[in-house]
Amino acid sequence: MEEKYTLAHKRITASLEHFNLVSQANDMLDAVLDYKNMMMVYSCAIKEIRTKLEILDTEFANRVSRNPISSIHTRLKSQTSIIEKMERKGIPVTRDNVEQNLNDIAGLRVICSYIDDIYQIADALVRQDDIELLEKKDYIRNPKPNGYRSLHLIVTVPVFLSDEKKIVKAEVQIRTIAMDFWASLEHGIKYKKNVPQAESLIAELKECADTIAATDQTMMHIRSRMDEVREEETDLDKLYEKLKRFDIQF
Ligand code: GTP
Ligand code: MG
Repeated sequence: MEEKYTLAHKRITASLEHFNLVSQANDMLDAVLDYKNMMMVYSCAIKEIRTKLEILDTEFANRVSRNPISSIHTRLKSQTSIIEKMERKGIPVTRDNVEQNLNDIAGLRVICSYIDDIYQIADALVRQDDIELLEKKDYIRNPKPNGYRSLHLIVTVPVFLSDEKKIVKAEVQIRTIAMDFWASLEHGIKYKKNVPQAESLIAELKECADTIAATDQTMMHIRSRMDEVREEETDLDKLYEKLKRFDIQF
């Protein structure tokens, strides 16, 4: 009798342990899938904003016969970067904490030829009634001490899923081709340890940033002076000009 009871008890305990494990594993997988779903929504926000930018580029191109956007690069923040950044901020990594505290899980970098295009694209994007501007950092008018220049926007965009609408944050960095070239070199140096004569490299980089800024300004002025040039046009020239505008640029 005694032995039978013990056996049954053992069985129940084992099966409880088994079920507990299963339920723990289930909870854990639910949390992981929930997190994955959050990342999926951020990737959709990138698609939404990329399309908005491409549409603005197409419209500008058809109006002024040149593309203001040279390229768009997008990235979803990696899991290691998310964990590192949350640890730096001293905040436990939960789905809600990540959503509330990180603005750059969805990231878009827009590369323009000219400085005035940067502001036109930024203004046209934030004017859209489904985009909300949460934060703007103008490192072009106020460059960082190291020479970094770029316009940073933190925006929200709605993402429509099958049964709900999510308002999602994204970081949009807009800069010229030259500013981007500079930032990629500087980024490489920043993450290298033991760079010999780092001080002098930093000073040289700052000089490059200033030269680039002056060149960007000059090139923009040359372009706007060219824009102002009005050619003597015959009626036939005007006709051809209008015909050219029939070709959709995209
Ligand atoms: P984090 O730098 O992301 O923690 O946020 P923050 O609040 O300091 O935002 P900030 O707008 O200053 O920078 C956001 C992003 O811009 C960075 O993650 C980089 O991608 C870029 N960035 C900012 N400063 C520099 C810089 O000095 N050099 C380079 N190469 N990139 C920079
Ligand atoms: Mg920073």
